[in-house]
Amino acid sequence: MNKTVKLITALLLVMGVGPAQAQSDGASLDTGTMKSLRGALSLDQDPAPERIRDPLKDQDIQDRQYMHQPPLIPHQVRGYEVDLKVNRCLSCHGWKNAASRNAPRVSVTHFEPRDGLTLSDISPRRYFCMQCHVPQTGAKPLVENTFTPVESLR
Ligand code: HEC
Ligand code: HEC
Repeated sequence: MNKTVKLITALLLVMGVGPAQAQSDGASLDTGTMKSLRGALSLDQDPAPERIRDPLKDQDIQDRQYMHQPPLIPHQVRGYEVDLKVNRCLSCHGWKNAASRNAPRVSVTHFEPRDGLTLSDISPRRYFCMQCHVPQTGAKPLVENTFTPVESLR
């Protein structure tokens, strides 16, 4: 019995170590029948990003479901560039322009880095808006969802 356990552990170790070694060679990855989100590209190639499918038309502000939920993006975002030089989202949601664009401002939490300070500009950890805020698509739910918002938000 003990021997069998050792044998299985040894086998698992060999299986785990094998693929890791193959990757570090820089050779293209043989993923067998498995397909990851980035496709079957090798690690030094960037896949073309998927387009957001079936984006919903612009809507009103959406209800939040729980405290501290990043609000959903109620409008389309196609072509809104966010990179080192430009942040299209801030051109409407930054404090300077929000009023003239009739858009809600980012809240003060967006100026706070990890150590409890308040910066005079957007905090680096809030720069890439779509890490947290997502637009909506017309996708049908894959499974039934019985989630209900917290009492105070219903
Ligand atoms: C052209 C101006 C404009 C740009 C650019 C823009 N937005 Fe907006 N956004 C708005 C307006 C206006 C609203 C309010 C819509 C309403 O009141 O119905 C809004 C609403 C939102 C909300 C909802 C806020 C809430 O309290 O529910 C979020 C989140 C948001 N936008 C995120 C983004 C992100 C992320 C980007 C960049 C990818 C972006 N927006 C780019 C104008 C803009
Ligand atoms: C790390 C996650 C995160 C990132 C990144 C982020 N946000 Fe938010 N955002 C939140 C959360 C959580 C809230 C709701 C609570 C709060 O205001 O902090 C929020 C609230 C908002 C609101 C509503 C403010 C209000 O007073 O109701 C707007 C507008 C917004 N974010 C826009 C943006 C824009 C534009 C960016 C990019 C420049 C961005 N956010 C980046 C998490 C994030």
